[in-house]
Amino acid sequence: MSSPVSTLTITRPDDWHLHLRDGAELASVLGYTARAFARAIVMPNLRPPVTTVKQAARYRDRIRAALPAGMSFEPLMTLYLTDTTSPAEIDRAAASGFVAGVKLYPAGATTHSDAGVTSLARCAAAFERMEERDVVLQVHGEATGDDVDPYDRESVFIERELAPLVARHPGLRVVLEHVTTRAGVEFVRAGAGKVAATITPQHLLYNRGAMFRGGLRPHLYCLPILKRERDREALVAAAIAGDPRFFLGTDSAPHERYAKETACGCAGVFSAPAALELYARAFEEAGRLDRLESFSSFNGADFYRLPRNQGRVTLERRAWTVPESLPFGAGEIVPMCAGETLAWQLRDAGGAP
Ligand code: NCD
Ligand code: ZN
Repeated sequence: MSSPVSTLTITRPDDWHLHLRDGAELASVLGYTARAFARAIVMPNLRPPVTTVKQAARYRDRIRAALPAGMSFEPLMTLYLTDTTSPAEIDRAAASGFVAGVKLYPAGATTHSDAGVTSLARCAAAFERMEERDVVLQVHGEATGDDVDPYDRESVFIERELAPLVARHPGLRVVLEHVTTRAGVEFVRAGAGKVAATITPQHLLYNRGAMFRGGLRPHLYCLPILKRERDREALVAAAIAGDPRFFLGTDSAPHERYAKETACGCAGVFSAPAALELYARAFEEAGRLDRLESFSSFNGADFYRLPRNQGRVTLERRAWTVPESLPFGAGEIVPMCAGETLAWQLRDAGGAP
């Protein structure tokens, strides 16, 4: 058997699904992402949500202002779709040069989604304009309502909402964000319309058993929730296949420790401090480290029709322990795999462009 490689240099990756929050929280987390990733699609679920191009421009300015000195990072902004998003706002997004897509949260599906879409029919004019102007639709693909089992929310959403939407708008570029099920992978692979998907590190590395291992693990609770082992296997197979429709999107979603370790905890896994290392672990476990680069650095850029990055990053096989907690605004936050030892570590790239 050949000895395992000790360094891995790839084109600098991008994160195609990220929550950066705002204010002091933004300042606490941004550096972790900028260290590894050249660009990120920044989710608009602030309070209040980022629903207009004007608001997105201001949020973008705040992100740039919060960037630690010496780092380069380009925030790609998104608009939060509501029942009342106008075609004119879609036109402004298309013309802006910095809005990379519009995010659909079914109302009530996840954190800060109460202003989300109550019925896709209400957004028909916006979808039509997005299709015309080739603006990407990013979808939180979960059905809502107490009648839908939490483990079936993705497949039910695909069947009831996404498949008909894609049939109505075959030219609309859609990203099924954080795909978590075999059904989701199969839907993307079936090739209806122009659908791609992002995959998170936690859904590649864990099934739902990990949330209950030895007790309740709130820091692994996210939405969509971790699924069955057969789902995880389908996600890994999709990620390592070299299929350009699957790419990296961490869904790193920071919540302060107290908001996770409580009677009614927030959904979200904070993976940013070790994101690329965690993906490397998943790809290595699958025996396909050679496919990490296309998944992390090529497929997303190609789908979004943005240039691939020029810079490179290097991962070194050097054991390190993820901190138990990190500062977050005035409080603290527990990162994914806190206290665990990882085999790969990113050599400090200092945000080379
Ligand atoms: C996200 C958040 O906290 O903003 N939470 C999560 O569990 N992924 C929202 C989301 O993307 O669903
Ligand atoms: Zn998210």
